[in-house]
Amino acid sequence: MKTIRLHDKTFSLFIPYAEISSAIDRVAEKINRDFKDAPAPPALLCVLSGAIMFTGELMKRLDFDCTLSSIKLSSYEGTSSTGVVKEAMGLTAPVEGRDVIIVEDIVDTGRTVHALVDLLKKKGASSVRIATMLLKKEVYEGSIPLDYVAMEIPNRFIVGFGLDYDEIGRNLPDIYVIE
Ligand code: IMP
Ligand code: MG
Repeated sequence: MKTIRLHDKTFSLFIPYAEISSAIDRVAEKINRDFKDAPAPPALLCVLSGAIMFTGELMKRLDFDCTLSSIKLSSYEGTSSTGVVKEAMGLTAPVEGRDVIIVEDIVDTGRTVHALVDLLKKKGASSVRIATMLLKKEVYEGSIPLDYVAMEIPNRFIVGFGLDYDEIGRNLPDIYVIE
């Protein structure tokens, strides 16, 4: 089994790129079906930094007109959630009157998406949907339904494909799990 070392920890290969790519194909198909007759271009909202790779892979599979904006939030320190969602950079474009699709790397406790949905509603978004590459289903405490989930994973700390361990590991094309 392929392993890598990041900072003080060892990670082993968990989801190879081919599998990630097929999962994104499937979720993109679903989004395409739902938005094919959208009256106005929806706004993809990339949640930086983790969702950057997923956003790129997802949007090239979408076949309807859409815009792209971003916001930077963080709640993790090291390998665990602090429980507090910090806004490091605000919305890069207004969302008033827009149909927004949040694009997230991973939903864990759900605090981040909940805070984001509240913010988008407050800022006047017409509708908000959530697309996430990964879901830690056992940990999700949220009440908001997650519209598009590419893959479900157990409650383990992972890195790669945009996700980091203290800011490194984001560039790995595959997903690795902590040993
Ligand atoms: P939540 O607010 O608890 O749902 O946490 C969501 C955010 O925490 C995600 O957007 C990630 O940035 C980060 N996160 C959660 N789980 C992991 C993980 O296993 N590895 C890296 N980052 C994670
Ligand atoms: Mg994130």
